[in-house]
Amino acid sequence: MVNVYSARHYDSDRALYAAFEQATGIAVRVLPANAEQLLERLRAEGEATEADLVVAADAGNLWRIKEAGLLQNVTTPALEAGVPARLRDGDGAYWGFTKRARVIVYRKDAVQPAQVANYDDLANPRFRGQIVMRSSTNTYQLSTLASRIERLGAENARAWAAGVRANFVRDPQGSDTDQIKAVAAGEAQATLVNHYYHFRLMRSEDPADREVAAKTGIVFPDQAGAGTHINISGAGVTAHAKRRDRAVQLLEYLVSDEAQTLLAPMNVEFPIRPAIAPAPDLAALGAFKEEDIALGVLGRHQAEAARIFEEVGWR
Ligand code: FE2
Repeated sequence: MVNVYSARHYDSDRALYAAFEQATGIAVRVLPANAEQLLERLRAEGEATEADLVVAADAGNLWRIKEAGLLQNVTTPALEAGVPARLRDGDGAYWGFTKRARVIVYRKDAVQPAQVANYDDLANPRFRGQIVMRSSTNTYQLSTLASRIERLGAENARAWAAGVRANFVRDPQGSDTDQIKAVAAGEAQATLVNHYYHFRLMRSEDPADREVAAKTGIVFPDQAGAGTHINISGAGVTAHAKRRDRAVQLLEYLVSDEAQTLLAPMNVEFPIRPAIAPAPDLAALGAFKEEDIALGVLGRHQAEAARIFEEVGWR
């Protein structure tokens, strides 16, 4: 047996664990929680924890768990071969196994894609009173701004956040999906979300969701510049894992050709390396340029990103 604390609740993950069980005879027990609960629970349990592997979305969340001393560094040839260097922690505390992109979603009847080709466009005064955004307390927003701090510095990041803030229709509220719905409903012209929320609406069995998706388009920003902000879902072995070897085995499985090939068609995220084809609707988008920064640095800028958001009034 191996125990997984997971902040991801997808059928695709359950199918992966079942395939691992089938291949190895090692049963996978999953304890679901959101990223925050997961960290608190691990902290409270300390050495007594039964968790062997932690699975969570966003490098910012994984970094917080690492910083709390709750992960151990693991490096193996299979992990290094499976995960591009920038998509994992430099010490081996966590390893990406899927990729997500932070994309601009715009209303097709109001905006040309070329008008929102770059993250900078969201701060353009032409969109005054036309932008909706999720709260800055969300890790996706913190990681997006942290990557900008890393590439362009804090002053640039502050100016961008202030510019976007000046374009708000309303105070931040709701999820990524709620932002897309607000754009489709004509309450705003553009927003920033993780790509898979748009694809989920497109794949939905509810015609109302598909209509929301049909009214909106997505742009992978900064293709002529630094590339689109990329993040991961990832996993790491807990500091006090009772079944360390099996946790490493499962981690290696998650990034293996077999698991990546099995996961891709079921998933709305991208495989962790380009050699594996994503789901057909994602593949149809073609290749796009990804921002080339090591995700491990996002955590280091997280506190500063939160401060900048606070200063410019992006709650
Ligand atoms: Fe998400």
